Amino acid sequence: MENTSTIEGERIVKTICIRCHYNPNTLSLSGFNHANPERIGHFWSSNITGDSLFGIGSWTKRDLVYFLRFGVNPDGDFVFDMPKYVHLSDQDMSSLVSFLKSDDPLVKPTPFKTPSPEYSLPMRLLMSFWLRPPSWKPKPVLEPDKTNQVAWGRYLAVAKFACFDCHSGNSMTNNHLHPENSWRFFEGGSPHANEFGEKIVSANLTQNDVSVIINWSENDFVRCLRTGIRPDGSTVRDPMFPFSMLTEDEARAIYQYLLTL
Ligand code: HEC
Ligand code: HEC
Repeated sequence: MENTSTIEGERIVKTICIRCHYNPNTLSLSGFNHANPERIGHFWSSNITGDSLFGIGSWTKRDLVYFLRFGVNPDGDFVFDMPKYVHLSDQDMSSLVSFLKSDDPLVKPTPFKTPSPEYSLPMRLLMSFWLRPPSWKPKPVLEPDKTNQVAWGRYLAVAKFACFDCHSGNSMTNNHLHPENSWRFFEGGSPHANEFGEKIVSANLTQNDVSVIINWSENDFVRCLRTGIRPDGSTVRDPMFPFSMLTEDEARAIYQYLLTL
């Protein structure tokens, strides 16, 4: 954890974490209403600012790494409705954690208490019987070779930018340890709720005839990913969002990786 460069960490936070944890009233990541009533219940994402009472100010960097990889917090609670970063490289993880511990305005200590969650009955059953953190022996997590476009694309899509978390058949039951073993890996179908609580199903991104990207060129894909605009001019709906912080090369690497599925 000696890497104090927060550049990549900031990019991950501003791409992914901000989607669920940003509170427009406090202008920081103090948590926000995260309703998915039908499926999950009513609850808020946590306050992840440096506040030591209501946020994560008292968590050690180790606590954070363990939580971000496996979803288990220092109290031993398992948090399911959040991407898992099991395979994020040690380098990116260190940068992410350093950013969360920095004095950036997004994570400045914000004394805001998020209401307790009210999970739906199906969710409570699922939580007690099914959802368990993966068991894992700590080992170094290295970055793939950036010159290998497919390996790099897999890293970005599976480990770093949470595409896999949403684009499988059911994001609740993903196999984070062995992502490829998840049900309908990248074949989409996972029901998500948009900001109005409407059901929006994730898209199939494999080379399968029901997938739309098979008809798209690489440039179409890159544009859609970075701007949210499909080749026919329509816009992707929430919870999909434009990954405007991805570089063109990164978007191309993801496309090349998806072509292998
Ligand atoms: C899809 C929405 C979503 C995204 C994306 C997301 N989170 Fe969360 N996060 C949540 C929710 C919801 C909770 C609280 C769950 C609960 O209370 O059971 C949470 C809880 C947490 C907690 C605190 C856990 C605790 O027990 O207090 C931390 C730390 C955290 N998230 C960090 C992050 C970071 C860092 C990122 C980006 C890398 C991120 N989250 C991305 C939804 C999200
Ligand atoms: C929070 C969940 C979530 C994340 C994270 C996510 N997606 Fe999506 N994505 C969706 C949903 C839901 C849709 C369907 C949107 C719609 O129907 O308008 C979608 C649609 C798309 C589409 C449009 C396909 C079509 O049929 O029009 C592409 C391309 C795509 N996602 C690629 C990606 C890539 C690549 C990543 C990672 C960099 C990613 N998505 C991350 C949920 C997500």
